[in-house]
Amino acid sequence: MASYYDQGLSRRPSRMPHRRAGTLVVLGGIFLLFHASAALTQGNDRVEFPQDYQRGIHYTTVERGGIREELFANREAIMAAKQGIPLPSGSVITMEDYRDGRLFRYIVMEKRSGWGERYPETLRNGDWEFQSFQPDRTVNRHESVSRCMSCHKAQSTHDFLFTLDQMKSVKLD
Ligand code: HEC
Repeated sequence: MASYYDQGLSRRPSRMPHRRAGTLVVLGGIFLLFHASAALTQGNDRVEFPQDYQRGIHYTTVERGGIREELFANREAIMAAKQGIPLPSGSVITMEDYRDGRLFRYIVMEKRSGWGERYPETLRNGDWEFQSFQPDRTVNRHESVSRCMSCHKAQSTHDFLFTLDQMKSVKLD
């Protein structure tokens, strides 16, 4: 996790004696790390398993090797994608992740106004939060939410989504 702050840590105030500046930088780093991990732990608890996700829209299937992913989103999220506007607060995207035909996990992204505010800009994905759930739908605490965020951040021009185009092109009945 330290890598997110490497840039900040190396930016040393130039006129300070080195030793003092070093201490401040280390303290600052500890504060940032503590703050970020607290944020991630809290973030971990905000997304609840969307029990009714199957009532939303099954918008695509992704298959590669022994992996099959079934993707669902609520109707409001799909409608916004189709209109080319940012997905609204309350959007929930759920992925069933199968390995060799067996349900391996669920992963979920949920957007709520203001949810991104606790994250540093380097990590923040707009107002999206991420969570991984076991097949029994309980939170999987072994999965690093910061990894989710750093990978999805690359999609910032697509509302942090990899499958926005599939949402746009799904046919609604
Ligand atoms: C290394 C990159 C990477 C990481 C890490 C990652 N994802 Fe993704 N995610 C993807 C890609 C790529 C897709 C598109 C589907 C595919 O190709 O499998 C995707 C799709 C999704 C989707 C469907 C919406 C979309 O963006 O298309 C959700 C929900 C999702 N990921 C949640 C998560 C969660 C939660 C985590 C962490 C537990 C996570 N992801 C970690 C790359 C990543």
